[in-house]
Amino acid sequence: MPSVQAGEFESWDALAQQARGLLSGEPHRIANAANLAALIFNGVPDLNWAGFYFVEGDELIVGPFQGQPACVRIAPGNGVCGTAMVSGETQRVEDVNAFAGHIACDPNSRSEVVVPLIESGRVVGVLDIDSPIPGRFSDADARGFEQLAAIYLASLAR
Ligand code: SME
Repeated sequence: MPSVQAGEFESWDALAQQARGLLSGEPHRIANAANLAALIFNGVPDLNWAGFYFVEGDELIVGPFQGQPACVRIAPGNGVCGTAMVSGETQRVEDVNAFAGHIACDPNSRSEVVVPLIESGRVVGVLDIDSPIPGRFSDADARGFEQLAAIYLASLAR
């Protein structure tokens, strides 16, 4: 079991390498989501929420996460998560208060990235990351979270 240290953010490549180590050899969907949420929350500075929603039926249901308790169900097209679910595209929101329909699960959230999880062309869930700092996430950060989402999806295929 690799040790996961809360600490300095080195680089997206370093975090991706840690994620590969953490998930390697383990294909369990929930277990890997839980560990990846913990790795992100402790490894990326200035977050207040990091975790997963999974598609069940026609809605998103909250999965493993770190942070304050969250909304359980999100309908397609609702909020940032529901928008990522419907569009199949990463959402990077500089100011959640300016995003029409943003769902304020944690009122401290000010900016957000949501990456859709796509398996065989279908959105099966989303990876959702929130920060209390407006404009916290750069485009490179969004790409970094996409890389972690890809590592998560690849781990399930083993
Ligand atoms: N803010 C999200 C809802 C999920 S919480 O941030 C954990 C949204 O608008 O979809």
